[in-house]
Amino acid sequence: MKRKPPPKVDLTELSGERNSPYVRNRKLFEWLGDDEARASLYATLSAAGKPCLPFPSRAIRNMEDKDCKREDLRSGHETVFLLAHAEDIKHVLANREGRFSNEPYRALGTGTFMLALDDVDLRRKQIAAARRAFPTSEEEVLKLCAFAIDAAQVMSLRGPKFDLAEFSEQVALRFCSALFGFAVKDYGRIEAAMRAAYNGLNYQILGRHFTTEPLALPTAERLMGELLGRSALLIDEYQLDRDDLPEGLDKMGAGLGSFVPVMKKLARMPGELNGEELAVLVVGAMAGVVGNVQASVCIAVDAIFRANKLNEASRAAWLDNGDELQLWITGALRLNPPVAFLPRRAQADIKNLPSGLVLKAGAECILCMGAATRQALGQISDLRQLREAEKDGLIFGLVEGEFPQGGPHSCIGADLARPLVREIVRHILRLPGLAEQLDPEDASVIRLEKRWGFGCVRYPLIYRSDRRRKQQSLNVSMRIKAPVGQNASALRALIRIGAPRIERALREARHVHFAWFEFIDNDRRLVLHTVYDGDFGAYIQHFALVVGDMFDLLFQHIEDAPQMPVAKFPGEFVDLIRRYNMAPAMGYFFSAYPKSDTAQIMRDERFRP
Ligand code: HEM
Repeated sequence: MKRKPPPKVDLTELSGERNSPYVRNRKLFEWLGDDEARASLYATLSAAGKPCLPFPSRAIRNMEDKDCKREDLRSGHETVFLLAHAEDIKHVLANREGRFSNEPYRALGTGTFMLALDDVDLRRKQIAAARRAFPTSEEEVLKLCAFAIDAAQVMSLRGPKFDLAEFSEQVALRFCSALFGFAVKDYGRIEAAMRAAYNGLNYQILGRHFTTEPLALPTAERLMGELLGRSALLIDEYQLDRDDLPEGLDKMGAGLGSFVPVMKKLARMPGELNGEELAVLVVGAMAGVVGNVQASVCIAVDAIFRANKLNEASRAAWLDNGDELQLWITGALRLNPPVAFLPRRAQADIKNLPSGLVLKAGAECILCMGAATRQALGQISDLRQLREAEKDGLIFGLVEGEFPQGGPHSCIGADLARPLVREIVRHILRLPGLAEQLDPEDASVIRLEKRWGFGCVRYPLIYRSDRRRKQQSLNVSMRIKAPVGQNASALRALIRIGAPRIERALREARHVHFAWFEFIDNDRRLVLHTVYDGDFGAYIQHFALVVGDMFDLLFQHIEDAPQMPVAKFPGEFVDLIRRYNMAPAMGYFFSAYPKSDTAQIMRDERFRP
């Protein structure tokens, strides 16, 4: 369906005279949820010299909040402050006087992970342990990226149509599983916990102020809790120096021979952390990876399509040039940061923000990261402007080195995330014939679908998968006519007698690798299995014309036979075969030589019979 034009931003719609709190709340939510409207909101606020936008939130502070005092309990719409002034945002993130709290994060999981902690000493212990355990060599990180991409593409890129949001999520999950040292059997648990954690995180940061999802946090807590238990158990096992962990991961085969997973390193060097704190560190860090990497990849690829960069003749060189690719990715993420909003609460009256904005103690703030990251950027198609994007800006928070002294909660995984995002984007952009899918109704491009302006839920793309794997399977299963015993015997006789003819037809076709018949379900069904190259329709039509009479004989004993003679009605035959063709389970199909077709192989005399 054609994309709706972005909602028009008109700040007067947020005045109390014109609209009720609900309407104002919903209006703002619409703007924040749309990339173009959000950019226009930030530009409008900046042009109007407005550093902040107070709005009536749907979220009510409740007694469950561990730090909430009885007198703080309020009903109706608490006013929450959207901060959109770049210097104010940096000031809050720097938190020099320690007057901004990360308390809003405490509603997620155990609330004891560094991101939710204001206690400097507790945070320092966690950061020290994490820094000791995270891989530092780019070579090792790139090996993990290659392993994760290779593992995820087996299923996610098995057909021409795929969802980039799903693929990038699966790569990030495979990356985390190997990085932290989980067993293959833990995959489903990690996947469920990370999806719930990311949804819970986005709900806690932004969603709860505009919409009501009572299960978002309890579900995240439950699934993260289960993963916490498993991580704690594994860390205990790793402390026993077991070399057979992680189970099921063939590290050598995956080219990760010498890699020591994070949980093993944490187990060996726990510092001042106990088993539970180490497990909280693992689950907490992972919760910040999957959704963020997924969003980063989708946002970058969408921007590259919008900039029409893929059609450039220099595409291959550009893709090989890591720096230039990185520039485009960073530029795209600064225009639309994957972490588009961050929560903070003022713990005291604040009167020294650069814009002059004053906040009362207890004020809940949402930092509009895009307003800050965009500050130095124009349109992404201008390479010259891209030079400005050599730096991450605030994509990963107030990262030390880029900002004097950095910020207490800046991302400690940026050196893992950057190469991972870059390698996934490079892998995708290298896919032959890559394009955005078109809507069958009006042929409009199906664009990236986001939730609440930052979670990326769907991005349908298409590519020439037949250029990556030539072969595909045919599994035509048809019911044998009653009396089954008699007809099955007749079919067996036909196959025995007709085999030489079929053999010659298959060989001369030069696009069939393997073919065989199978009786299943106590002879009630006959299945024709083949592995062939090229287009389904052309392939089936060829056999209708060449051995149509053989099929006519076979269909005497099969229910729902097509119009015959098959050679005279090849179209109906193709439709019937398509109808009864069963795709491999989950679409998974292995080929030892995906890029070789029958003709190529047959040209090599070593393979000729
Ligand atoms: C594209 C991927 C990523 C993005 C965009 C991202 C972004 C961020 C941002 C903006 C923050 C600051 C949050 C705040 O101040 O409220 C943060 C914190 C954090 N990130 Fe990342 N991150 C990414 C990947 C990772 C990875 C791969 C890891 C580790 C494996 C990681 C671990 C952390 C941790 C532990 C914190 C909390 C730091 C603290 O509280 O001291 N992140 N991340």
